[in-house]
Amino acid sequence: MADPAIFLTGTGTGVGKTVVGCALAAAWAARGLAPRVLKPAESGCERRGGVLHPTDAWALREAAGDARPLDEVCPYRYVLPLAPAHAAEQEGGPPDLDRLLGMIAALRGRPGPLLVEGAGGLLVPLAPDVQMIDLARRAGLRLVIAAPLGLGTLNHTQLTVRAARAEGIPVAGIVLSDLTGEDTPAARRNPGAVRELCGAPLLGVLPYLPGIGEEIRRGAGPGTPAAARLAGAAGRLDLGMLGNT
Ligand SMILES: Nc1ncnc2c1ncn2[C@@H]1O[C@H](COP(=O)(O)OP(=O)(O)O)[C@@H](O)[C@H]1O
Ligand SMILES: [Mg+2]
Repeated sequence: MADPAIFLTGTGTGVGKTVVGCALAAAWAARGLAPRVLKPAESGCERRGGVLHPTDAWALREAAGDARPLDEVCPYRYVLPLAPAHAAEQEGGPPDLDRLLGMIAALRGRPGPLLVEGAGGLLVPLAPDVQMIDLARRAGLRLVIAAPLGLGTLNHTQLTVRAARAEGIPVAGIVLSDLTGEDTPAARRNPGAVRELCGAPLLGVLPYLPGIGEEIRRGAGPGTPAAARLAGAAGRLDLGMLGNT
Protein backbone atom coordinates (compact mmCIF):
# COMPACT_ATOMS: atom_id res chain seq x y z
CA MET A 1 0.00 0.00 0.00
CA ALA A 2 1.14 3.57 -0.68
CA ASP A 3 1.90 6.21 1.94
CA PRO A 4 -1.26 7.64 3.54
CA ALA A 5 -2.53 10.66 1.61
CA ILE A 6 -5.80 11.85 3.06
CA PHE A 7 -8.21 14.73 3.01
CA LEU A 8 -9.58 15.11 6.52
CA THR A 9 -13.08 16.48 6.56
CA GLY A 10 -15.78 16.46 9.19
CA THR A 11 -19.49 16.59 9.66
CA GLY A 12 -19.14 20.28 10.49
CA THR A 13 -17.08 22.74 12.49
CA GLY A 14 -15.89 21.89 16.00
CA VAL A 15 -16.44 18.17 15.46
CA GLY A 16 -12.86 17.07 16.16
CA LYS A 17 -11.05 17.30 12.79
CA THR A 18 -7.97 19.07 14.09
CA VAL A 19 -7.65 16.82 17.13
CA VAL A 20 -8.01 13.74 14.92
CA GLY A 21 -5.50 15.27 12.48
CA CYS A 22 -3.00 15.95 15.27
CA ALA A 23 -3.46 12.42 16.58
CA LEU A 24 -2.74 10.91 13.14
CA ALA A 25 0.21 13.24 12.58
CA ALA A 26 1.65 12.48 16.03
CA ALA A 27 1.28 8.73 15.47
CA TRP A 28 3.04 8.94 12.10
CA ALA A 29 5.76 11.22 13.46
CA ALA A 30 6.35 8.84 16.39
CA ARG A 31 7.00 6.11 13.80
CA GLY A 32 9.56 8.31 12.08
CA LEU A 33 7.42 8.74 8.96
CA ALA A 34 7.90 12.53 8.52
CA PRO A 35 4.26 13.50 7.83
CA ARG A 36 3.41 16.71 5.96
CA VAL A 37 0.28 18.71 6.67
CA LEU A 38 -1.72 21.26 4.75
CA LYS A 39 -4.61 23.43 5.89
CA PRO A 40 -5.54 25.04 2.56
CA ALA A 41 -7.60 27.83 4.11
CA GLU A 42 -8.22 28.85 7.70
CA SER A 43 -10.58 31.54 8.86
CA GLY A 44 -11.01 32.90 12.36
CA CYS A 45 -7.25 33.52 12.57
CA GLU A 46 -5.84 35.77 15.30
CA ARG A 47 -3.75 38.73 14.31
CA ARG A 48 -0.37 38.43 16.04
CA GLY A 49 2.13 41.17 15.39
CA GLY A 50 0.76 41.90 11.93
CA VAL A 51 0.70 38.21 10.97
CA LEU A 52 -2.41 36.03 10.85
CA HIS A 53 -1.96 33.05 13.13
CA PRO A 54 -3.82 29.93 11.88
CA THR A 55 -4.44 27.94 15.06
CA ASP A 56 -5.33 24.65 13.35
CA ALA A 57 -2.50 24.77 10.82
CA TRP A 58 0.00 25.59 13.55
CA ALA A 59 -1.25 22.75 15.78
CA LEU A 60 -1.08 20.26 12.89
CA ARG A 61 2.39 21.41 11.87
CA GLU A 62 3.68 21.04 15.43
CA ALA A 63 2.13 17.59 15.90
CA ALA A 64 3.60 16.44 12.59
CA GLY A 65 7.03 17.92 13.34
CA ASP A 66 6.70 19.46 9.88
CA ALA A 67 9.26 22.26 9.65
CA ARG A 68 7.82 23.91 6.51
CA PRO A 69 6.94 27.61 6.87
CA LEU A 70 3.36 28.43 7.89
CA ASP A 71 2.79 30.14 4.53
CA GLU A 72 3.26 26.75 2.89
CA VAL A 73 1.22 24.88 5.51
CA CYS A 74 -1.67 27.35 5.39
CA PRO A 75 -1.54 29.58 2.30
CA TYR A 76 -4.93 31.30 2.76
CA ARG A 77 -5.72 32.86 6.14
CA TYR A 78 -8.59 35.09 7.17
CA VAL A 79 -9.63 36.89 10.35
CA LEU A 80 -13.38 36.65 10.01
CA PRO A 81 -14.93 33.47 11.38
CA LEU A 82 -16.70 32.67 8.11
CA ALA A 83 -16.41 30.16 5.30
CA PRO A 84 -13.17 31.00 3.44
CA ALA A 85 -15.07 32.22 0.35
CA HIS A 86 -17.07 34.63 2.49
CA ALA A 87 -14.20 35.86 4.66
CA ALA A 88 -12.33 36.53 1.42
CA GLU A 89 -15.14 38.81 0.20
CA GLN A 90 -14.01 41.27 2.85
CA GLU A 91 -10.33 40.43 3.22
CA GLY A 92 -8.83 40.15 -0.22
CA GLY A 93 -8.37 37.24 -2.55
CA PRO A 94 -10.18 33.92 -2.19
CA PRO A 95 -8.25 30.65 -2.28
CA ASP A 96 -7.02 29.75 -5.75
CA LEU A 97 -8.07 26.16 -6.45
CA ASP A 98 -5.38 25.51 -9.05
CA ARG A 99 -2.65 26.79 -6.75
CA LEU A 100 -3.90 24.54 -3.93
CA LEU A 101 -4.04 21.54 -6.27
CA GLY A 102 -0.47 22.29 -7.33
CA MET A 103 0.66 22.43 -3.71
CA ILE A 104 -1.04 19.12 -2.93
CA ALA A 105 0.47 17.47 -6.01
CA ALA A 106 3.94 18.68 -5.02
CA LEU A 107 3.50 17.36 -1.47
CA ARG A 108 2.31 13.99 -2.80
CA GLY A 109 5.44 13.75 -4.88
CA ARG A 110 7.52 13.39 -1.71
CA PRO A 111 7.65 10.26 0.45
CA GLY A 112 5.75 10.11 3.74
CA PRO A 113 2.16 10.60 4.87
CA LEU A 114 0.17 13.64 3.77
CA LEU A 115 -2.78 15.06 5.68
CA VAL A 116 -4.93 17.92 4.35
CA GLU A 117 -7.51 19.37 6.74
CA GLY A 118 -10.53 21.01 5.18
CA ALA A 119 -12.42 23.89 6.78
CA GLY A 120 -15.81 22.90 8.19
CA GLY A 121 -17.57 20.18 6.19
CA LEU A 122 -17.64 19.20 2.52
CA LEU A 123 -20.11 21.79 1.27
CA VAL A 124 -18.42 24.81 2.80
CA PRO A 125 -17.79 27.56 0.21
CA LEU A 126 -14.05 27.76 -0.49
CA ALA A 127 -14.07 30.29 -3.32
CA PRO A 128 -16.76 31.63 -5.67
CA ASP A 129 -18.52 28.57 -7.13
CA VAL A 130 -16.03 26.27 -5.40
CA GLN A 131 -16.79 24.17 -2.34
CA MET A 132 -14.45 22.18 -0.13
CA ILE A 133 -15.70 19.00 -1.82
CA ASP A 134 -14.36 20.24 -5.18
CA LEU A 135 -10.88 20.53 -3.70
CA ALA A 136 -11.15 17.05 -2.15
CA ARG A 137 -12.34 15.52 -5.43
CA ARG A 138 -9.83 17.21 -7.69
CA ALA A 139 -6.94 16.56 -5.30
CA GLY A 140 -7.64 12.83 -5.69
CA LEU A 141 -7.14 12.16 -2.00
CA ARG A 142 -9.08 9.61 -0.01
CA LEU A 143 -11.39 11.05 2.58
CA VAL A 144 -11.31 10.60 6.34
CA ILE A 145 -14.45 11.89 8.04
CA ALA A 146 -14.26 13.08 11.66
CA ALA A 147 -17.55 13.15 13.53
CA PRO A 148 -18.58 13.44 17.17
CA LEU A 149 -19.34 10.17 18.92
CA GLY A 150 -22.54 11.35 20.59
CA LEU A 151 -26.17 11.91 19.73
CA GLY A 152 -26.81 13.54 16.34
CA THR A 153 -23.88 12.06 14.51
CA LEU A 154 -25.65 9.40 12.43
CA ASN A 155 -27.49 11.81 10.18
CA HIS A 156 -24.50 14.09 9.60
CA THR A 157 -22.09 11.23 9.04
CA GLN A 158 -24.31 9.52 6.48
CA LEU A 159 -24.95 12.80 4.69
CA THR A 160 -21.20 13.39 4.44
CA VAL A 161 -20.55 9.89 3.11
CA ARG A 162 -23.35 10.25 0.58
CA ALA A 163 -22.07 13.62 -0.62
CA ALA A 164 -18.59 12.15 -1.09
CA ARG A 165 -19.94 9.10 -2.94
CA ALA A 166 -22.06 11.27 -5.21
CA GLU A 167 -18.85 12.98 -6.34
CA GLY A 168 -16.93 9.71 -6.67
CA ILE A 169 -14.62 10.51 -3.74
CA PRO A 170 -13.38 7.36 -2.00
CA VAL A 171 -13.97 7.30 1.76
CA ALA A 172 -11.00 5.73 3.55
CA GLY A 173 -12.83 5.77 6.85
CA ILE A 174 -14.70 7.49 9.62
CA VAL A 175 -13.32 8.48 13.03
CA LEU A 176 -15.77 9.11 15.84
CA SER A 177 -14.24 11.46 18.36
CA ASP A 178 -15.43 11.33 21.95
CA LEU A 179 -15.77 15.05 22.69
CA THR A 180 -17.33 14.70 26.15
CA GLY A 181 -16.35 11.42 27.79
CA GLU A 182 -19.99 10.89 28.73
CA ASP A 183 -21.25 7.34 28.84
CA THR A 184 -24.53 7.82 26.99
CA PRO A 185 -26.72 5.38 25.07
CA ALA A 186 -25.70 7.12 21.84
CA ALA A 187 -21.99 6.89 22.65
CA ARG A 188 -22.40 3.16 23.17
CA ARG A 189 -24.60 2.51 20.12
CA ASN A 190 -23.12 4.85 17.52
CA PRO A 191 -19.92 2.99 16.55
CA GLY A 192 -21.95 -0.07 15.59
CA ALA A 193 -24.59 2.11 13.96
CA VAL A 194 -22.00 3.89 11.82
CA ARG A 195 -20.71 0.50 10.65
CA GLU A 196 -24.24 -0.61 9.80
CA LEU A 197 -25.40 2.56 8.09
CA CYS A 198 -22.47 4.26 6.37
CA GLY A 199 -21.04 1.59 4.10
CA ALA A 200 -17.56 2.94 4.85
CA PRO A 201 -14.99 1.62 7.33
CA LEU A 202 -15.07 2.89 10.91
CA LEU A 203 -11.41 3.51 11.72
CA GLY A 204 -12.32 3.66 15.38
CA VAL A 205 -13.27 5.92 18.26
CA LEU A 206 -10.78 8.55 19.34
CA PRO A 207 -11.04 8.56 23.14
CA TYR A 208 -11.94 11.59 25.23
CA LEU A 209 -8.76 13.54 25.93
CA PRO A 210 -9.56 16.22 28.53
CA GLY A 211 -7.77 19.51 27.84
CA ILE A 212 -6.45 18.35 24.45
CA GLY A 213 -7.67 21.50 22.65
CA GLU A 214 -5.47 23.67 24.85
CA GLU A 215 -2.56 21.23 24.57
CA ILE A 216 -2.48 21.28 20.77
CA ARG A 217 -2.79 25.08 20.80
CA ARG A 218 0.35 25.18 22.96
CA GLY A 219 2.12 22.75 20.62
CA ALA A 220 2.22 18.97 20.68
CA GLY A 221 5.54 18.50 18.92
CA PRO A 222 7.32 15.14 18.69
CA GLY A 223 8.73 14.12 22.06
CA THR A 224 6.27 16.14 24.15
CA PRO A 225 3.84 14.50 26.60
CA ALA A 226 0.98 15.84 24.48
CA ALA A 227 2.38 14.09 21.41
CA ALA A 228 2.61 10.83 23.32
CA ARG A 229 -0.98 11.26 24.46
CA LEU A 230 -2.17 11.91 20.90
CA ALA A 231 -0.17 9.04 19.44
CA GLY A 232 -1.50 6.73 22.14
CA ALA A 233 -5.06 7.77 21.31
CA ALA A 234 -4.40 7.23 17.59
CA GLY A 235 -3.25 3.73 18.47
CA ARG A 236 -6.93 2.97 19.08
CA LEU A 237 -7.61 3.63 15.39
CA ASP A 238 -7.05 1.26 12.49
CA LEU A 239 -4.25 3.30 10.92
CA GLY A 240 -3.34 0.47 8.55
CA MET A 241 -6.51 1.30 6.58
CA LEU A 242 -4.97 4.63 5.59
CA GLY A 243 -1.85 3.32 3.90
CA ASN A 244 1.64 2.14 4.60
CA THR A 245 2.49 2.93 8.23
N1 LIG B 1 -11.09 13.50 21.58
C1 LIG B 1 -11.32 14.65 22.21
N2 LIG B 1 -11.28 14.74 23.55
C2 LIG B 1 -11.55 15.88 24.18
N3 LIG B 1 -11.85 17.03 23.58
C3 LIG B 1 -11.88 17.03 22.23
C4 LIG B 1 -11.63 15.85 21.47
N4 LIG B 1 -11.75 16.16 20.15
C5 LIG B 1 -12.06 17.47 20.11
N5 LIG B 1 -12.13 18.00 21.35
C6 LIG B 1 -12.49 19.37 21.74
O1 LIG B 1 -13.31 19.92 20.73
C7 LIG B 1 -12.70 21.12 20.22
C8 LIG B 1 -12.97 21.21 18.73
O2 LIG B 1 -12.26 20.17 18.09
P1 LIG B 1 -11.45 20.44 16.75
O3 LIG B 1 -10.61 19.22 16.52
O4 LIG B 1 -10.74 21.75 16.81
O5 LIG B 1 -12.66 20.51 15.72
P2 LIG B 1 -12.67 20.96 14.17
O6 LIG B 1 -11.28 20.88 13.66
O7 LIG B 1 -13.60 19.99 13.52
O8 LIG B 1 -13.23 22.36 14.15
C9 LIG B 1 -11.23 20.99 20.58
O9 LIG B 1 -10.61 22.24 20.70
C10 LIG B 1 -11.27 20.28 21.89
O10 LIG B 1 -11.53 21.19 22.92
MG1 LIG C 1 -10.07 22.33 12.73
